[in-house]
Amino acid sequence: MKAVIPAAGLGTRFLPATKAQPKEMLPVFNKPTIQYVVEEAVASGIDDILIVTGKGKRSIEDHFDKSFELEYFLRNCGKTDNLHEIEAISEMADIYYVRQKKQNGLGDAILCAKKHVDGDAFAVLLGDTIAKSDVPCTQQLVDIYNKYGASTIAIEKVPDKKVERYGIIKGNRVSDNLYEIEDLVEKPKLSEAPSNLAITGRYILTPEIFDHIEHLTPGVGGEIQLTDAMKSLDKIYGHVFEGKIYDIGNTVEWLKSSIEIALEDPEVGEDLRSYMAEIVKC
Ligand code: UTP
Repeated sequence: MKAVIPAAGLGTRFLPATKAQPKEMLPVFNKPTIQYVVEEAVASGIDDILIVTGKGKRSIEDHFDKSFELEYFLRNCGKTDNLHEIEAISEMADIYYVRQKKQNGLGDAILCAKKHVDGDAFAVLLGDTIAKSDVPCTQQLVDIYNKYGASTIAIEKVPDKKVERYGIIKGNRVSDNLYEIEDLVEKPKLSEAPSNLAITGRYILTPEIFDHIEHLTPGVGGEIQLTDAMKSLDKIYGHVFEGKIYDIGNTVEWLKSSIEIALEDPEVGEDLRSYMAEIVKC
């Protein structure tokens, strides 16, 4: 299976940080967000990855490219650990790029992948969303896709106050963590939301999705919404993801993800924990 990572959005919720740099390149602890996303795809057994980029996103390509000068420098000064880490970034997957000409919404970004996925089911991992779990989120979805042969998306329960920020599902429970989806609503008012199960940024989509996107008219925010196209799929499942999701496009979630990931780091975790205990007391 191939993976598609949309990363062409303007990141307006994170301005001014995203004025001249992609939000997908914002570091979470010591790595850019999109590196976690690519690592998740690779850990799920996918090594053919298409990143949908746009104007001002060049640093994403540079990050996954080989860096001869840097590698030469690290080798010469004996920084072997750094060298291996840097070499691994450019070797972990076959990464391809396509540019979304105009930031016209997530559905439009996915449509840019039509040629590359070439009639097969494919995984979508949002480039600004980190999923932390024992079994990679995309792997969890691939397993369900292999069992049921239908499009499958990751969902999570969100508190009432967050419902208006997400695509929300209406579904029938098939088993403990699995729903067959009947309807999807993009960013509903709490009073109109059919549940508090939100779409989280990981999908396995069958290629019929492209026809549905092509027939869409602009939805919420005047954009071509992937959620609207998914409504027309014959069958679609929602898997309550076992793990934690961070939407990096949201400043507070970005901060929380950095802190949580840094707290787990063997070198800095302890130090950070005592610093936080100290400032929380004040
Ligand atoms: P978001 O809706 O969070 O991205 O899309 P955005 O439009 O950049 O965010 P704000 O609301 O202005 O802050 C989720 C993912 O889809 C990509 C984004 O780059 C992000 O990784 N995306 C979104 C595209 O590739 N193209 C688009 O037209 C919109």
